[in-house]
Amino acid sequence: MIIAIDGPAGAGKSTVAKILAQRLGFLYLDTGAMYRALTFKVLEKNIQISDEPTISRLANEVKIDLSTNPDGSLSVILDGADVSLAIRQPRITQVVSDIAKIQKVRTVLVQLQRELGLKGNCVLDGRDIGTVVFPDAQIKFYIDASAAQRVSRRYKELSGLGQQIALEDVARDLSNRDKIDSTRQASPLRKADDAIYIDTTELSIEQVVQKMLDYCKING
Ligand code: DC
Repeated sequence: MIIAIDGPAGAGKSTVAKILAQRLGFLYLDTGAMYRALTFKVLEKNIQISDEPTISRLANEVKIDLSTNPDGSLSVILDGADVSLAIRQPRITQVVSDIAKIQKVRTVLVQLQRELGLKGNCVLDGRDIGTVVFPDAQIKFYIDASAAQRVSRRYKELSGLGQQIALEDVARDLSNRDKIDSTRQASPLRKADDAIYIDTTELSIEQVVQKMLDYCKING
């Protein structure tokens, strides 16, 4: 079974997706981590963000592996190197949306996501899972929250990772990414018609997970 979770940055998708996968004994696939890993490689190789042909070629060449550790954390391995923490750096976050809007990059990563997702029961989170990657997923959620709440959550998450970042910078980055992710030509962020909409602004993580589990029990 495939469970698709989409929504904007900072809505809490990956937090709840990870817990949901753990409780159900499903695989968890953080598709944003793949776009981030490729972005890491682009910056490492000093490729211009505007150089779409080179970036598209690179997408075909890199090897990205995702795995979940026994403690529930995610390992992202890029060409054999562990980049799990490095891909959360602000320099990656600032440009990842520009990489993710390249159609050829999406074609390669969507193919990989489909292959990995079909290995077993899987929870995937991203922006286009229910609309493009797995439009026939049995269960789809669209997770949202107010802009202020999303900024506050992202700020706490980054502070927790030890990043010294100003709240205004988090707000600017989030709004910039929202705009690029939802207005791009190639599979923009959109709620699938058959996705369950959950506004998490006033909900705790556990409340959101419970809502999802209840829905899975009835419809799974
Ligand atoms: O969820 P995240 O912040 O780690 O995602 C990083 C970027 O990748 C985000 O700005 C949009 C893009 N992305 C995408 O276009 N499609 C996905 N399925 C997942 C992420």
